[in-house]
Amino acid sequence: MFLRYLSVRALLLLLGICLIGPRGLASAAETKEPKKIAVIGGGIGGSAAAYFLRQEFGASVKIDVFEAGTVGGRTATENVKGQDYEIGAAVIHPLNLHLKHFVETLGLSPRAEVKNKMAIFNGKELTFEESDWFIVNFIRMLWRYGFNSYRKFGWVEGILGKFMSVYQYQKFGYAFSSVEQLLRSVDAERFLNQTLEEAMRADGFSQAFINDIVTPNTRTNFGLNAALNAFVGVVSLADGTSGLWSVEGGNKRMSAGLLQLCKAEIIQGRVTGITLKTSKSASQYEVNYSVDSGPSRSLYDIVIIATPLHKGLSDISFSGFSPPIPSHFSGDFQQIVNTLVLGRLNMSYLGTDQRAADFLVSDILTTDNKALPFNSLATVAPVKIPQGYAHPPASANKVWKMFSAQPLSEEQLGEMFESQEGVWVKRWLAYPSYTPPNHRTPPFILHDHLYYVNAIEWAASCMEMSALSARNAALLAYNRWHGHAHKIDQEDLETRLRTEL
Ligand SMILES: Cc1cc2nc3c(=O)[nH]c(=O)nc-3n(C[C@H](O)[C@H](O)[C@H](O)COP(=O)(O)OP(=O)(O)OC[C@H]3O[C@@H](n4cnc5c(N)ncnc54)[C@H](O)[C@@H]3O)c2cc1C
Ligand SMILES: *[C@@H]1O[C@H](CO)[C@@H](O)[C@H](O)[C@H]1NC(C)=O
Ligand SMILES: *[C@@H]1O[C@H](CO)[C@@H](O)[C@H](O)[C@H]1NC(C)=O
Ligand SMILES: *[C@@H]1O[C@H](CO)[C@@H](O)[C@H](O)[C@H]1NC(C)=O
Repeated sequence: MFLRYLSVRALLLLLGICLIGPRGLASAAETKEPKKIAVIGGGIGGSAAAYFLRQEFGASVKIDVFEAGTVGGRTATENVKGQDYEIGAAVIHPLNLHLKHFVETLGLSPRAEVKNKMAIFNGKELTFEESDWFIVNFIRMLWRYGFNSYRKFGWVEGILGKFMSVYQYQKFGYAFSSVEQLLRSVDAERFLNQTLEEAMRADGFSQAFINDIVTPNTRTNFGLNAALNAFVGVVSLADGTSGLWSVEGGNKRMSAGLLQLCKAEIIQGRVTGITLKTSKSASQYEVNYSVDSGPSRSLYDIVIIATPLHKGLSDISFSGFSPPIPSHFSGDFQQIVNTLVLGRLNMSYLGTDQRAADFLVSDILTTDNKALPFNSLATVAPVKIPQGYAHPPASANKVWKMFSAQPLSEEQLGEMFESQEGVWVKRWLAYPSYTPPNHRTPPFILHDHLYYVNAIEWAASCMEMSALSARNAALLAYNRWHGHAHKIDQEDLETRLRTEL
């Protein structure tokens, strides 16, 4: 499917048709271009939105990006004894095409690959430990779960494979007004009102496999068991594949790079309010914000909100109109505490009698055990490492990273580690507390020319989804500004793209 489109594109290139581009037929002279666009939030979503807006609207529009905290948002690093470690979003999937494109365009590099080894802990002992030998893993999994684990890869790949079409739709300038519409275009909408557990059970996976293997993945990635929506569940399982990567020097470099490349002005300040101002000739938004020197405000033709509007996250008030969030789309973001410990692990805590010097497991996932104080425990490498770097064994004094719902107490850490040289803690309101079935997702369009990138997080929260939603917001803003209704919410795009050509 993908290949077919690629070859069609190659053909178009040969014919020179691509020069017209997806939006080439619109005569820009007919409509007035917007003069000023505001993007609220300088995380990967906001910075990608600024970049894609520049692509759509061209060089002359002024793009202001408001950032109350630090550019990068939930991608952030912490310095531990002179080395930086990811303390927010860490891993990127090989099929995350927008992020891949950013890294290439910005001249950044992926960090050298580190070999990881996974184990599963049930609170008493390690119930599974990956072997270095593929064949050993194969036989162990086969013995315990039949073909479940091998089918899992096919199942996840089948869903992701269909999902990949969305990149083609975006390339051709198509946008969607809601998360549901976007997912419907790639046959994934049904995963929003099903739990991962239901979807997998319906497709013949065993409950044992879901409890023992699937849940540890969703706990690590989204702090919940397999009762989350099936779409975010698939995103979580895709994380269990090989080839995961991150950006050398830190994932946050993507945001900083994109903002610089697209010549957005970064306004270091907190947006407090957005007011719709309507005159005879036009509607604009007045954005109120506070900077070091005090409160200020400015008018914009288009506003893109690239931060969650749910409780405790952004505190923006609206006047002149009332967007439906969060009133009509209730829900909470869950707290995830990211704790880094430089220290030596207590091997007996894991209920194993292996010697620490031989213990090379890097990622310890957990089953759904309420008594466990953490969701996952992993040894992590800094954001910059030399080629051929390998994780040291557990006997070394090294950096471990834990995700937990609550901060870990000194007592808990004392039991887990034989020695500790330092502890670094970051509390996040990390991602939605996914509660299926069918939690309706907020709309991408909050009002005319006011768009909401973070609606996508209610389907799944990850860096690539933010980037994908940012591209959608830019296309939506462009198509609606120019009245291109035929580029929005089109059904059956796959056949249409085939026959249009
Ligand atoms: C612990 C953790 C681990 C994760 N692991 C992964 C992972 O491995 N892989 C992955 O892909 N994803 C991961 N994620 C998810 C990922 O971090 C997010 O989906 C993504 O970074 C969201 O980006 P964003 O730009 O949409 O939002 P944010 O990064 O939250 O950006 C919003 C920005 O807006 C700013 N802001 C808020 N309010 C205002 C205001 N009123 N005025 C001005 N600015 C404001 C904030 O300061 C922030 O910088 C993880 C998240 C967490 C918390
Ligand atoms: C789930 O979504 C599908 C597809 O949109 C729909 O047909 C079905 O009725 C929904 N089920 C529930 C329980 O909402
Ligand atoms: C924006 O600022 C102006 C001037 O300070 C104020 O009158 C107005 O109420 C503010 N609007 C919002 C939505 O906060
Ligand atoms: C190591 O873990 C075991 C098992 O949880 C515990 O009994 C022991 O006290 C721990 N060691 C230290 C130094 O806390």
